[in-house]
Amino acid sequence: MFKINENYLKLPGSYLFSTIGKKVAAYSAAHPDKAIIRLGIGDVTQPLAPAVIEAMHKAVDEMGDAASFRGYAPDLGYEFLRTAIARGDYAGRGADIQADEIFVSDGAKCDSGNIQEIFSLDNKIAVCDPVYPVYVDTNAMAGRTGEYDPKTERWSRVIYMPCTAENGFAPELPDETPDLIYLCFPNNPTGAAITREQLQVWVDYANRVGAVIIYDAAYEAYISEERIPHTIYECEGARSCAIELKSFSKNAGFTGVRLGYTVVPKDLKCRDVSLHALWARRHGTKYNGAPYIIQRAGEAVYSEAGREQLAKQVQTYMYNAKTIREGLKAAGYTVYGGINAPYIWLKTPGKMTSWEFFDYLLEEANVVGTPGAGFGPSGEGYFRLTAFGSYENSVAALERIRKL
Ligand code: MLT
Repeated sequence: MFKINENYLKLPGSYLFSTIGKKVAAYSAAHPDKAIIRLGIGDVTQPLAPAVIEAMHKAVDEMGDAASFRGYAPDLGYEFLRTAIARGDYAGRGADIQADEIFVSDGAKCDSGNIQEIFSLDNKIAVCDPVYPVYVDTNAMAGRTGEYDPKTERWSRVIYMPCTAENGFAPELPDETPDLIYLCFPNNPTGAAITREQLQVWVDYANRVGAVIIYDAAYEAYISEERIPHTIYECEGARSCAIELKSFSKNAGFTGVRLGYTVVPKDLKCRDVSLHALWARRHGTKYNGAPYIIQRAGEAVYSEAGREQLAKQVQTYMYNAKTIREGLKAAGYTVYGGINAPYIWLKTPGKMTSWEFFDYLLEEANVVGTPGAGFGPSGEGYFRLTAFGSYENSVAALERIRKL
């Protein structure tokens, strides 16, 4: 009889956003007359920018002509896109990352789940708590996290770094030494950001103890303050200890288009083995590349017109963030985030747990958010709202919450 990967059985329930989706669908089916406002999953609502659409149309035409038709994409991604990324996201910020250190993929979620495959199962991971569930769940699926304790909601082999109001939602260096450190800044879910100096402390630490930082910079486009780094490679020494994950979902509205990339610098080595070579081997074996049309769309994100149009989209979302943040504050809520990130992280009122507050908001205000506990034990007592809705919906949701 065949056997299954029993690590899957240790995973608690379903994926956070699937659980929320099911709850909302059940409520909606029972109350078809209610207009629900969804500020739960961080999914964009603005249409693709005209520069992106134009590039896609052109690429579609090329695919329809034998002379310009393209089959399989190159393993690492098309040179035109990797060059645009290296220039736009790194050279312009004084970060030394070359085009051939960039691996184009169909999104940062897959990369953030798959990257653990190139590391030994003996490695110990450290994660912020609360945390984007994908990092821990995918390590659990691989069998790296030990046993799950439903009482504490913790895995026995994972080092949790609490991020709460007390430490400004910035993790402290752990007592126990990890091998892999997952950091996401600007942060999902808390919306917090750390300064260049704070990030440098992590880079120095990783180089000192021989750890790798897996740095998720998916929300980089939302940074508004000068002292916040846009990439970990702004820090000295990051080339020898950090992998960076980037997404086109939030800065360019590609949640349904799918495009992302991972940077593995050639200086990043385990003794004399290059992690770049391992990830290239994995990428070439398991992946056939993001579609040509989508990679052309990605290139357009870095064009002058694309940049201008997308900066406006980001501004619009950040205006929603400001509206929700200020509105909730005025209504007496304790609110964090929303300055360098499209997430508002609020304290649940009174003694309500985050899932109780979720049900209360859904039933009484018909507003969907994300309970903090879904991101880890330290998320209990907090609640996340996204700024990715329309302005009208953000204002309407705010009004409904205020009235409660
Ligand atoms: C979130 O809502 O946390 C994210 O949008 C989910 C994701 O990016 O996969």
